[in-house]
Amino acid sequence: MAHDTLTITDSRTQKTYSLPVENDTIRALDLRQIKVKPDDFGLMTYDPAFMNTASCRSAITYIDGDRGILRYRGYPIETLAEHCTFLEVAYLTLFGELPTAPELKTWVDDITHHTMLPETTRKFMEGFRYNAHPMAMLVSTVAALSTVYPDAREIHDPVNRLLQIKRLVGKMPSIAAMSYRHSLGFPYVYPDNDLNYPENFMNMLWKMVEPKYVANPVLARALDILFILHADHEQNCSTNTMRSVGSSHADPYLSTAAAAAALSGPLHGGANEEVLKMLDLIGSKDNVPAYIKQIKDGHGKLMGFGHRVYKNYDPRAKVIKWTAEQVFEVTGRNPKLDIALELERIALQDDYFVTRKLYPNVDFYSGIIYQAMGFKPEMFTVLFAIPRTVGWLAQWQEMITDPEQKIARPRQVYTGHEVRELVPIEKRIPALV
Ligand code: ACO
Repeated sequence: MAHDTLTITDSRTQKTYSLPVENDTIRALDLRQIKVKPDDFGLMTYDPAFMNTASCRSAITYIDGDRGILRYRGYPIETLAEHCTFLEVAYLTLFGELPTAPELKTWVDDITHHTMLPETTRKFMEGFRYNAHPMAMLVSTVAALSTVYPDAREIHDPVNRLLQIKRLVGKMPSIAAMSYRHSLGFPYVYPDNDLNYPENFMNMLWKMVEPKYVANPVLARALDILFILHADHEQNCSTNTMRSVGSSHADPYLSTAAAAAALSGPLHGGANEEVLKMLDLIGSKDNVPAYIKQIKDGHGKLMGFGHRVYKNYDPRAKVIKWTAEQVFEVTGRNPKLDIALELERIALQDDYFVTRKLYPNVDFYSGIIYQAMGFKPEMFTVLFAIPRTVGWLAQWQEMITDPEQKIARPRQVYTGHEVRELVPIEKRIPALV
């Protein structure tokens, strides 16, 4: 069978090498044979921020950034958002196939019975300062679950892995809700097993003195759709963190906490909070042109715009816009939507944004919906972390069972000093003023 190859001629030695090409990819390790002297280390690639490096093979999520396509396990995101529940999509993402009705029933039942937090974890959360950021509470509490479930270290046991996956998917909304209630000074609401996944989350967030919480079905479905849209997004910053930390065989709670920490940054999942702050700052539609000019002059970024992979409209943003309309029929229109629409309208016509292929991403409209539902901006990234836990765990499991994977350990190009002689302290000259 003929194999595709890449032929490289090294101008330093005039030697020619033939490297196999598979899936439009060469193996970085094949470059190591390219040397000037036999004892050289061999050629490496330099790729800060992994702009052009595939770190794994994955069968979970497919993105075509140029055509605005996102699929989980082969199913278009728009179809899943229209026809499935989040737990159905979670099953698909984690196990590769959509569940049958009995499989879904068992799965939902399992997740429902893992929603309760251990009392020690609840007490642990009580120790947070009254104004702690909910995302910081979530990251710390997920890590703290590692103290409750030491069996989670058995990462090579598939039965054990499945148990931890169910626990994490079940408990994430409970931790998120508790962090929300803590920041408001309200007591924790225990899960209600009669309710479905989004309804139960709403119950834990908003139940007050009523004997039984009844969720608005439109808002519950909107939340479920938002969860579907956020379930996975292949090798993004937080997923790469999950795989990287997990590759050291840390347990899934600690790996998930690390992934959530990566998500919290404003360039990643933290962007949805920043979008709301930006819309507040802009204040009204009339101020949009001046704000855009400021961005083009190099003062800051248009938050919720741009994506490393999508160079066309983010397909999730389209579904979110549609979902927003449904939510606003219940909550009333969030006035920030008009500012956002005007920002999008002007930006999509502006050469600066057009030439750089900057389009609204998933975070541009999600915050406006969350705010209309009554969430504070500090909660937005927490809402992102709940469904993304599914993606992190699917990717973690794929990584653990991939025989090609090892501990993640990139190389570097060293730019520091050659070996130096130590100067005694009394003879040192201050280097910093
Ligand atoms: N507003 C204004 N200019 C932008 C923006 C933006 N939001 N995003 C990128 N640019 C400009 C850059 O300044 C750069 O311009 P230059 O070529 O003149 O230097 C060019 O577009 C390319 O941008 P990069 O920073 O190289 O793109 P990269 O792929 O590294 O960054 C990122 C992607 C981090 C998402 C970036 O677009 C950004 O910071 N956006 C705002 C934050 C945001 O919304 N993040 C959420 C992403 S979705 C998610 O993580 C869930």
